[in-house]
Amino acid sequence: MVYPDKILLAIESSCDDTSAAVLQGNKILSNFIANQAIHEEYGGVVPELASREHQKNIVPVVKKALDMAGLEKSDLDGIAFTQGPGLMGSLMVGGSFAKSLALGLNLPLYAVHHMHAHILAHFIEDAGESAPEFPFLCLTVSGGHTQIVLLRSAVDMEIIGQTIDDAAGEAFDKTAKIMGMPYPGGPLIDQFSKEGNPHAFRFSRARLEGFDFSFSGFKTSVLRLLEKEMRNDDQFIERNKADLCASIQFTIVDTLLQTMESAALKHGITQIAIAGGVSANSGLRNGIQELAKRRDWKAFIPKFEYCTDNAAMIAMAGMFQLMHEREVPLNIPNNARLEF
Ligand code: KG4
Ligand code: ZN
Repeated sequence: MVYPDKILLAIESSCDDTSAAVLQGNKILSNFIANQAIHEEYGGVVPELASREHQKNIVPVVKKALDMAGLEKSDLDGIAFTQGPGLMGSLMVGGSFAKSLALGLNLPLYAVHHMHAHILAHFIEDAGESAPEFPFLCLTVSGGHTQIVLLRSAVDMEIIGQTIDDAAGEAFDKTAKIMGMPYPGGPLIDQFSKEGNPHAFRFSRARLEGFDFSFSGFKTSVLRLLEKEMRNDDQFIERNKADLCASIQFTIVDTLLQTMESAALKHGITQIAIAGGVSANSGLRNGIQELAKRRDWKAFIPKFEYCTDNAAMIAMAGMFQLMHEREVPLNIPNNARLEF
């Protein structure tokens, strides 16, 4: 694919990370992220605190991204921002700032869907060895979403399967919380899994029609097991942490990949990709590679830093908007429940 020689500044503020990135064509010049540690003690993101932190962060974060790229505001050709979905207060901080910049600098504005951006991160020049070719399937797994998406082009995507309750990231975070781990527990489960036996414990799995997922029964089965065992041994979790984590991770990853495999077979697709925060998970990264090898398919896994929330992916999605001449008016609202 040939990308225009244009420079975009992008802002991402949908949840608890404030991020700004600068992109030229499909090459990332800078990608800066300010994380919000403030939520850790609450066991989850507190929306009101998140938007206040974004307000504190937004000016220095954008400045940092421009400095790291070695550019001035006057070098920019457009501004991209996350329109939704996400937390309304958080989205509005990034959105208002992006609009003000576009207005002040007289630049075109591009509104980006956060989940589209997670997928389109695959097209960033250094995201992987090569970019997937259309059509391909992408398993998009984050703290709020679990979707199997069929991509016919960068602007033609269809969800062919999704969770009917908890997202895969929530399944990680909530089971981690049950075990007494801080938020977000996903990366911790991944870490402890490395020393554990993935077949030590068996947890229930839902089998749904088509390519949909459900993780609420799984979560309950983890809770029930731990309640039962802790009655006899209050050190049970501590003693079995690695095996518990490995078994939890195995159940989530195996469920995701089995469904992905069926979907790819049904649609005659041989290129499979993962995206979203949970695609940082080592079990999922290994698993999709093994699946592709077994089937003689091709797997695409984005570079670690483009998996969790970042503005580089918003910039890349914004570049596709620019390429399709999809500039938006300055009065476009943020939308916490923006449709796919
Ligand atoms: O995409 P993302 O950064 O934010 C959302 O838009 O939700 O995803 C965050 C989610 C959290 O649930 C976090 O626990 C999970 O991704 N996550 C992981 C790992 N790294 C991040 N889950 C399992 N293993 C990981 N290594
Ligand atoms: Zn995300």
